[in-house]
Amino acid sequence: MWRVGIVGGTGELGSAIARALLTSGSLEVADLLVSNRTGVAGLLKDVDGLTVTSNLNALVEFAEVILLAVPPAQARTLRLGAKNALVLSVMAGVTHEELIDISGTTRVVRAMSSPAAARQLAFSAWFAPGLNSQDAREVERILSACGRVARVEDEDHINRFTAITGPVPGFVAAFANAVVTHGMRAGLSEELALDAASQLFLSAGVLMAESTSTPREEMDAMIAYAGTTAAGMDVFDKGPLNDAVDAALEAAYQLARAI
Ligand SMILES: NC(=O)c1ccc[n+]([C@@H]2O[C@H](COP(=O)([O-])OP(=O)(O)OC[C@H]3O[C@@H](n4cnc5c(N)ncnc54)[C@H](OP(=O)(O)O)[C@@H]3O)[C@@H](O)[C@H]2O)c1
Repeated sequence: MWRVGIVGGTGELGSAIARALLTSGSLEVADLLVSNRTGVAGLLKDVDGLTVTSNLNALVEFAEVILLAVPPAQARTLRLGAKNALVLSVMAGVTHEELIDISGTTRVVRAMSSPAAARQLAFSAWFAPGLNSQDAREVERILSACGRVARVEDEDHINRFTAITGPVPGFVAAFANAVVTHGMRAGLSEELALDAASQLFLSAGVLMAESTSTPREEMDAMIAYAGTTAAGMDVFDKGPLNDAVDAALEAAYQLARAI
């Protein structure tokens, strides 16, 4: 893998991607340089041999791939002058066109990932019209070290993924909280309700990720089985859940577009 520099690599998302690259064995620590304003290792303080700098020019000199993982407002103040690097952003809202201005190159990728990268469980989508095939292979290598990857042809889909898969646990936490609240209302202790819900979401996540059925097919199979779950599925199908999820994800998407 090419030498990687992560601007904002000590933050939540940047450090998760750094960890993914190192723990997957995709990158040696000597081939990674992290920069921020303070020069303090922050969330990466446990990584032996890591160099952290507050000198952005040193990072631009060092890196063949520059990952941008700073807050969007901070990014818009940066001018990298990165004539010889591939630049990959995982920042919400910063457009492909803005990234060309910020980077000083057209070898620019707008992506969305998530802090689940630290455990190689992220879903990362990327957009880069006209990127050459060598650069595209490098992008796939970096993002597949973080989890699953998809290239998209429509830049606006990156805003969709900012809402859907950028935050982890994100909106799934709202559903889990509803389950915990129900359990407590029914007389379970908070500890018991939380323990049960966390195991439910772990097992459901693993089973659905491994299943060849769609979620709708899983629901229909439970309805066809006609057990206790079928009674609940009927309530979900007639109730406001779909509209509530749609409205919540739309609100997050609209903000991602406007950031
Ligand atoms: N966290 C998430 O769940 C998530 C999910 C999807 C996308 N994102 C995107 O990822 C980006 C980073 O988010 P985050 O949550 O990781 O933020 P964060 O935890 O606040 O980290 C931001 C990092 O950027 C550094 N930084 C800030 N301004 C800088 C500057 N001008 N120059 C160099 N470094 C700078 C900070 O270190 P210093 O303070 O030392 O400078 C820190 O390392 C955002 O654009 C966000 O949209 C985040």
